[in-house]
Amino acid sequence: TITPILLCGGSGTRLWPLSRQGYPKQFVPLAGTGSLFQQSAERLSGRGRGVCFAPPVVVTGADFRFVATEQLAEIGIEPGAVLLEPEGRNTAPAVLAAALHLAARDPEALMLIAPADHLLPDRNAFRATVARALPAALAGQILLFGIKPDRPETGYGYLELSSPTSPAGSATPLSRFVEKPDVAEAARMLASGRFLWNSGLFLFRACDILAAFLTCAPELLAPVRAALAGARADLGFLRLDPEPWACLPDISIDYAVMEKADNLAVVRYCGKWSDLGGWDAVWRAALHDPEGNATSGPAIGIDCTGSLLRSESEGLELVGIGLRDMIAIAMPDAVLVAPKDRAQEVKQAVLNLRQRQ
Ligand code: GDD
Ligand code: MG
Repeated sequence: TITPILLCGGSGTRLWPLSRQGYPKQFVPLAGTGSLFQQSAERLSGRGRGVCFAPPVVVTGADFRFVATEQLAEIGIEPGAVLLEPEGRNTAPAVLAAALHLAARDPEALMLIAPADHLLPDRNAFRATVARALPAALAGQILLFGIKPDRPETGYGYLELSSPTSPAGSATPLSRFVEKPDVAEAARMLASGRFLWNSGLFLFRACDILAAFLTCAPELLAPVRAALAGARADLGFLRLDPEPWACLPDISIDYAVMEKADNLAVVRYCGKWSDLGGWDAVWRAALHDPEGNATSGPAIGIDCTGSLLRSESEGLELVGIGLRDMIAIAMPDAVLVAPKDRAQEVKQAVLNLRQRQ
């Protein structure tokens, strides 16, 4: 069996005002049925299509413990463990804590790291891809799931293939991992045709990722071990010890391990995938009318093109007239209006708002 590790501690500020500090994007119904966190947990549960999943390990911030467990209960999933981080330190410490937790019982336990901010609507296709990745993971490789890129996106990791992958083939060794390149480098990699995007999902045995941490980021081991050793069980949650945790740097698994490890392999995922990182991505993933507009809630666009209009409240009418490539999001207590190509700046705007408060 494979244990899904559901990472859901991110703050999702680029999707403000729908995504809030106390209730970030992974827990909000953004697209599809249920929250992205619920969709991710459901996709990685039970058996079928050549894979069998154990109850998930959830790693999240202490503030989200009830939302996470209530949302799992709603879809009939009981987590195997819920690890609570005293503060977000990004994905490297979160993954390491989960690996040490699992390795204590079974060093060869297979883990599938699953971010909770993706749209992966074809559950069966994804599970079949995991099945194709299994033999290489069992042989000690760190498996990544690659997506064919279609634009020079700078918010993703890029995977350089050592040989061409076939869509239905088994794992291919990776020659390089480049996290979040600048736009010139992203354009070069896209044009070369030798790169795939990193989907952010990873499959490996606990012992193999621990070995990779030992060579690539050994400084994280002692504090994360100490945080687990000093963890306090509380109502079914495992609260990591805040004191050693506070010594950890804020670093993602991509920078800490993936850019440095030499036993990486990739399988290509050919189904629909999108990281709903910002409003431009939500627009891209949504259903469009013939003019390229996506609307939801009581919102209408008149003579608009390429725009996203969302009203998140029943009684709140949103009308856009003559908009070109704009985003308008209305919440009962906050409204965002911006050109679509500046959607990434929402993150900075939210930081400014918080400083003012
Ligand atoms: N528990 C926990 N703690 N989870 C976290 C934390 C944390 O401190 N920080 C982030 N996460 C969760 C987020 O909620 C999200 O589900 C996932 O980890 C990934 O974090 P992001 O911050 O969204 O990463 P990213 O999108 O910038 O980059 C990653 O994903 C891309 C694809 O979507 C990288 O893996 C890229 O290489 C990849 O291309
Ligand atoms: Mg993301």
